[in-house]
Amino acid sequence: MAKDVIIACDFSSKEQTLAFLEKFTDRKPFVKIGMELFYAEGPDIVREIKKRGHKIFLDLKLHDIPNTVKKAMAVLSRLDVDMCNLHAAGTIAMMEAAREGLTRADGTRPILLAVTQLTSTSEERMHEDLLIEGKIGDVVVHYAQNAKKAGLDGVVCSPLEAGMVKAACGKEFLTVTPGIRFADGAVGDQVRVTTPAQAREIGTDFIVVGRPITAAEDPVAAYRRCVEEFLNS
Ligand code: C5P
Repeated sequence: MAKDVIIACDFSSKEQTLAFLEKFTDRKPFVKIGMELFYAEGPDIVREIKKRGHKIFLDLKLHDIPNTVKKAMAVLSRLDVDMCNLHAAGTIAMMEAAREGLTRADGTRPILLAVTQLTSTSEERMHEDLLIEGKIGDVVVHYAQNAKKAGLDGVVCSPLEAGMVKAACGKEFLTVTPGIRFADGAVGDQVRVTTPAQAREIGTDFIVVGRPITAAEDPVAAYRRCVEEFLNS
């Protein structure tokens, strides 16, 4: 799948989401649906957005015993999403089970990504709360290697980690990176951020952009600016 800009549709209702997407009349953006919208509206919101011609990254970050994740992934696969994810912390066995569950009878399946360490987790919290020693970058790379061993397609990580992941897992291994801000925009609660142009230089495959587009005065112009910086410049 070609490199792209994914808009994080972090809205709490179907009405808000569809009103937002209706602003985009020419290029239909790739959209990310997260837990808030999915839990509020259920699988119908995925079907509705898909019907309107958008590609969908369903960001539900599954993490459970392998058998449960396998069965849940089979359900998501039937929803015909383009991309979905789980936590690499669930182990290689869980990731393998997820991949099997996601694979349809004809051998096709959505792109499957692993979340390594959430970008909200600092190295200090990883050491003290999770009792995981070492550098956070090394843990991210190790989890990415586990995901690769399990046959996954890539990871969600900070753009600042994407280079390390590519070096360890190969350039075909996908990196999908949130934490994107315009050079002249507000950072908000994100800590380790890059601009769309820097993300392109690092070589990430997909950028996930939320508030710089959804909270912009002109979301379509902000989206075009992201596409221009990330894909066309
Ligand atoms: O508004 P903003 O651009 O910060 O949105 C980023 C999106 O990416 C949000 O939906 C957030 O939940 C998600 N995300 C993230 N960091 C991660 C994983 C997902 O910011 N490590």
